[in-house]
Parts: sequence; structure tokens; C-alpha cells
Amino acid sequence: MNYLCNSREGASGRGRGRVQQSAMKTLNSLLNSELNLYLQTWNCHWNVEGPQFAGLHDLFERQYGDLAGLIDEMAERIRALGGLAETRVALEQAGAAGAREMLASLRQAHEALSRLMREEAIPEFEKAGDPGTVDLLTRAVQLHDKAAWMLRAPAR
Ligand SMILES: [Fe+2]
Repeated sequence: MNYLCNSREGASGRGRGRVQQSAMKTLNSLLNSELNLYLQTWNCHWNVEGPQFAGLHDLFERQYGDLAGLIDEMAERIRALGGLAETRVALEQAGAAGAREMLASLRQAHEALSRLMREEAIPEFEKAGDPGTVDLLTRAVQLHDKAAWMLRAPAR
């Protein structure tokens, strides 16, 4: 078995609590990165200006909507695994960025999260024998890769 065993419900080895803690730490850290990106995207939706305004305003709205769905799934996965969803959002963003800066900054954030999940989080949950969380994170990678493409295309 693995950390899916809630330590309050009869996990016998001391190692299990530690594994569970580290899994919850990983998922909560991802959850908070997603929340920051959600707020950043919403901020761009409000503040974007310029000739591409209509298209970007709509694109950012779709993207923060997609992120909201993912965030809810991630928080509920944490609860399903016996952890608590923790929120530590600390985003400061002035709204003066130009459209190109917004596109680049959001794209970089999506790419960084995709990379972090592919290279670190998914292998961690594969090793822990948790296909449910691997599935969630795999779908998150698909969301971030698609979002990065949608943000790259108008910047060309
Ligand atoms: Fe709106």
C-alpha cells in the first residue's frame, strides 16, 4: 500500500505518514501555483488592451475558466486522499502590462507548471502507485500545453 492509507485509519508503518505528507505537500504546492496562475489570467482578462483586445479578453476568460475546473479537481483529490486543501495565494500584479507581456508571462507560467508535473510530480505519484493522481496530473499537463500553445500563437 502507499500513502492512500490515511494514517488515522490504521496505517501501521511510520513511513506511510511521511509519504502521505510529502504527497500532500506536492499537491498543495501545485494547487497554489494553479491558483496564482488563475488570478494572473483573470487579471489579464480585465486589463488587456490594444488591437487584439476582444480575442485576448475572451481567450483569457476561457483559460481562467479551465483553470478553475482543474483547481477544484485538484483540491478535491487532496481531500479524497485524506489531506487538507491549503491556500496560500500571494499574487501581486499591477495591471499595466502590455498584451505581448501578458501573453509571454502566462505562457511561461503554463510551460513551467507542465514541466514541473511531467518531470517531478507525475513520476512521484507513479512511484507511489497512485494512478488516480497520475491521471489528474496528466490531464493538467494537457491543459497547460494547450493553453501555452493558445498564448504562443497570437504572439507570433
Ligand atoms: Fe469578464
